[in-house]
Amino acid sequence: MDKEKIRELISQMTLKEKAGLCSGADFWHTKAVERIGIPSVAVSDGPHGLRKQDDEADHLGLNESIKAVCFPAGCALASSFDRKLAGKMGETIGQECQAEDISTILGPAVNIKRSPLCGRNFEYYSEDPYAASEMSSAFIRGVQSKNVGTSVKHFLANNQEKRRMTNSSDVDERTLREIYMVPFEGAVKNGKPWTVMNSYNRINGTFVGESKEYLTDLLREEWGFDGYVVSDWGAVNDRVEALKAGMDLEMPSSNGVNDALIVKAVQEGALDEAAVDQACERILNIVFRYMENRDENAVFDREKDHGTAASVEEECIVLLKNECGESGKPVLPLDREQKIAFIGKYAQAPRYQGGGSSHINSWKVESALEAVKDFADVAYAKGFDDAEDKADETLEAEAVQAAKDADAAVIFAGLPDSFESEGYDRKHLNLPDCQNRLIEKVCDVQKNVVVVLHNGSPVVMPWKDRVSAILEAYLGGQAVGKAEVKVLFGEVNPSGRLSETFPNRLEDTPCYLTYGKGKDHAEYREGVFVGYRYYTTRDMDVQYPFGYGLSYTTFGYSDLAVDKTGLTDAETLSVSVDVENTGDRAGKEVVQLYVAPVNSEVPRPVRELKGFEKVSLEPGEKKTVTFMLDDRAFAVWNADLHCWDVPDGAYRIQICRNAREVILETEVQVKNTKRPRQKYTANTCMGELMSDPKAQQILGQMMGNNEQAKEMEEKSQGEAVSQEMLAAMMQDMPLRQLISFVPGMTWDAVNGLLSALNAD
Ligand code: BGC
Repeated sequence: MDKEKIRELISQMTLKEKAGLCSGADFWHTKAVERIGIPSVAVSDGPHGLRKQDDEADHLGLNESIKAVCFPAGCALASSFDRKLAGKMGETIGQECQAEDISTILGPAVNIKRSPLCGRNFEYYSEDPYAASEMSSAFIRGVQSKNVGTSVKHFLANNQEKRRMTNSSDVDERTLREIYMVPFEGAVKNGKPWTVMNSYNRINGTFVGESKEYLTDLLREEWGFDGYVVSDWGAVNDRVEALKAGMDLEMPSSNGVNDALIVKAVQEGALDEAAVDQACERILNIVFRYMENRDENAVFDREKDHGTAASVEEECIVLLKNECGESGKPVLPLDREQKIAFIGKYAQAPRYQGGGSSHINSWKVESALEAVKDFADVAYAKGFDDAEDKADETLEAEAVQAAKDADAAVIFAGLPDSFESEGYDRKHLNLPDCQNRLIEKVCDVQKNVVVVLHNGSPVVMPWKDRVSAILEAYLGGQAVGKAEVKVLFGEVNPSGRLSETFPNRLEDTPCYLTYGKGKDHAEYREGVFVGYRYYTTRDMDVQYPFGYGLSYTTFGYSDLAVDKTGLTDAETLSVSVDVENTGDRAGKEVVQLYVAPVNSEVPRPVRELKGFEKVSLEPGEKKTVTFMLDDRAFAVWNADLHCWDVPDGAYRIQICRNAREVILETEVQVKNTKRPRQKYTANTCMGELMSDPKAQQILGQMMGNNEQAKEMEEKSQGEAVSQEMLAAMMQDMPLRQLISFVPGMTWDAVNGLLSALNAD
């Protein structure tokens, strides 16, 4: 419906009706105004499937929802590093929404994984803002191609579950811009989501839901967002302030309480009615966008979508280790002729999704034990029951015996539901003790041990060096078993890469000293050094780095080329590299491009991901991958000037196997042309002045004309302070100090010098 018609409808509404439209009818619906033909539409969680609740509604995943398909969670999807795949999953979910008459799915959830302890990391994409932004934009475009909206959440800096409704994330401007805002910025600019969900928390003391700076100035004016902002469920502190700031729709219903406050504020002159009209216009724009593009014929084909869920997960599984077993060849893929034992509860009842609002009522679950029937006869032993983390000696003994009798043992391990969920954070990075103990015991009797992990975020693996192979399946959705078996037996060549670091221990994590501390304030003291930005800059050892993942084939790189070796921040750089499948199996490689500043004055991470491309290669096949880098690939956020800013200098363009391993690199020089020329002051240091050719010339002339200064310089020759030492000392000396150290220097001379330097 066009703007004029929507405005016409709004003009026919009473103030009470308009205030009412700004909150839900119930838990999942917007309000109808039947007398003028405004319909009510439904929204639903998300993000990795439908949680459509018909009867008893809640936002914690407590009550039943319709039978649906559970796709791989964000942690898994992001590991695919495959934009097309994320788009495909989005399209499938969009189609399901049309079939179930859902106008908007509440996702994707794109918050940065600041710490592996965050209870909701399983839903989030990455510790890297670029990866999160690219993958979520692709997902959004997929869903919305079916004329169904998305709700990018939880905007902004919502990186912990502890006191998530009142906590203030205390973050500096540069860190917000470079790390926490980027996934939302990318999603808004490249995905054009119909709605954005503001988070519960505060930032530097102000509720995001009441921040005009974030909801209007940034989201709409700077990034061009044109949908409506919806509160996270119950994230309304002061409804009138929220409306003023740009929070359009309150969810769920406040049973009229907050609507009445809006009416009162308008009547008392505390709120401009135009602000209410504007929120209504934004909401109606989206309501009608959906209604006018309904696909009444859409069907929710659960069987087909189960197959899609399996094929998505196949691309997400990350092979972390694959060493030679007893036979002298890598343990994986397994040989169908071998005697194989599947061990562990998760072989039969996999953990495939997390707890809370994203919890899907799966219409079926395909376990590895069921899926393996199409591949081989395997023995099975449950091995542990981690409901209470207690070792069960009978189960252990059975598992050890099964492992002993087999040629290879595959242990299906992972985190139990209670270890990670929405609503609270993890306390440690450990698997249940009973599982670690079982793995060690199986290793005592069997050389060929494979561990398959089911978890939403990193775990420490004390048995890492004892097992032959490790597969990270993450929370892989209801068809996880099928995907696992295909990878185990080599029908699928694993191609996932970690979108987060697996640290050696909790104490190594960048925000270890502050995460989860503080009553209502979380201090983001690690700044921009989040995830691999921290570990690589400190050159720390980790279990597995960001971007890591193996394949059953091998890849070779050559011919890294750039289209120029010097550029300005107004130009783009084209980078190309050849990648070849050097093994004997078809496979997929994630080509990763990082930018590494050389000798940066600004504290910066050693390298940052600025491009990735997943390529599929037949044995012996070679492809050229090309990346285009613009100024943002080199920029930092300049908190003095409040803008993106490219520091002059050398940058390495690195093609890496993962965040730690550089394969090929080349160097380019980048020059800033956009930064407004700075005005020099009496406190500008000599080093800065001497790097400006104009200043060099003026200052040189002035010193050259000063006889006493020349005399002093000559005297210093051969004395304790050498010329070089003098220059080094001068580097950080402010201009005003010339008065103290250069005989004959006056304030008039300094001020004269400044006017000459600052003249255009
Ligand atoms: C969660 C959101 C969810 C909403 C509705 C909230 O508690 O934070 O992610 O979409 O509930 O269930």
